[in-house]
Amino acid sequence: MAILITGGTGYIGSHTSVEFLNAGYEVIIVDNLSNSKVEVLDKIKQITGKEVKFYEADLLDRVAVEQIFSENQIEAVIHFAGLKAVGESVTIPLRYYHNNITGTLILCEVMSKYNCKKMVFSSSATVYGMHNAVPFVENMPLSATNPYGSTKLMIENILNDLYVSDNEWSISLLRYFNPIGAHISGLIGEAPNGIPNNLLPYVAGVATGKLEKLKVYGDDYDTVDGTGVRDYIHVEDLAAGHLCAYSYVMQHTGVEAVNLGTGKGYSVLQVVKAFEKASGKTVRYEISPRRAGDIASCYASTEKAERLFGWQATRDLDKMCEDSWRFTSKVNS
Ligand code: NAD
Ligand code: WQD
Repeated sequence: MAILITGGTGYIGSHTSVEFLNAGYEVIIVDNLSNSKVEVLDKIKQITGKEVKFYEADLLDRVAVEQIFSENQIEAVIHFAGLKAVGESVTIPLRYYHNNITGTLILCEVMSKYNCKKMVFSSSATVYGMHNAVPFVENMPLSATNPYGSTKLMIENILNDLYVSDNEWSISLLRYFNPIGAHISGLIGEAPNGIPNNLLPYVAGVATGKLEKLKVYGDDYDTVDGTGVRDYIHVEDLAAGHLCAYSYVMQHTGVEAVNLGTGKGYSVLQVVKAFEKASGKTVRYEISPRRAGDIASCYASTEKAERLFGWQATRDLDKMCEDSWRFTSKVNS
């Protein structure tokens, strides 16, 4: 039996593929390479010494998805494939809705047909919206503030409805906070195309000299130093969380939303300081106006992940920055 990892050549998917291979599972990756490179497969092999079966296919292509299930015995799906840029989702919402939602619908229909009813889904802390108080707890009211967030919220609802219609399903909705860092080998990490939107890749770009200076979006929030606070989580901790979620869905039926975060928040300026320490470089910055749609603070309640999965993040911000810098330095050398 194999585990199918959709979006497995992407940032989080590649680290999770390594985690599953190292734990002895047979892994199959499907990815359309719209936001990742095929070379990632060689890196995964270098790290694990193991082969991964790869399908270059789009989840929107039902025939291709059916072929994967007809050619393999798949016991569970770890579903990462999706478009994820918040700003872009505002510009091209239809593409986001179609790709993320239709892709998931086709995947679920094919899974049902092949009687594979175990799924771990990549949701996001963005579903907590703008009006909840931290720490975010799984049973808080949910809302979306942009098309990307709406796709996550809608998919959560679809998967809940799917379980109501068929109680054999077992689904874990993992709400990630802010994943950063890279594999300790420096071989895989986050390599966004073009100018990065997210804080860490931007900071790394300034440290390498590729970008001139960071714009710090607001210093008048009600936080430790006025800059935005987020729950940064090492991507390797996140990958380990998927293995725990997989074990859980294999032993239970039902739908559970679970936060994957550290429970600790760091401000933008604290991240800049930690990155300077890890890299030995100066990260130039200037204070800019707030970014539309941002909230002051966002961090997780980790109680449910600990209780259900026995999982806890173990790597601290310094380690996240060190690993991120190792990967960035390698890519730029
Ligand atoms: P990523 O872009 O690196 O990986 C996603 C992968 O999915 C890419 O390799 C892309 O080529 C592939 N893909 C996209 N649409 C596809 C389709 N229709 N068919 C086949 N493959 C397709 O992103 P990531 O950071 O690894 O995120 C993985 C998942 O986690 C996404 O669903 C994202 O929304 C979610 N998530 C990410 C973050 C984050 O900050 N990185 C936070 C919360 C949730
Ligand atoms: C972090 C902090 C910014 C860039 C996003 C998505 C969320 C999830 C994770 C997918 C904030 C500040 C940033 C910069 C800055 N993704 N910042 N200058 O917005 O918390 O979450 O990624 O699900 O849905 O919205 O992450 O890295 O963009 O920002 O000052 O150039 O850094 O204001 O306080 P965010 P981020």
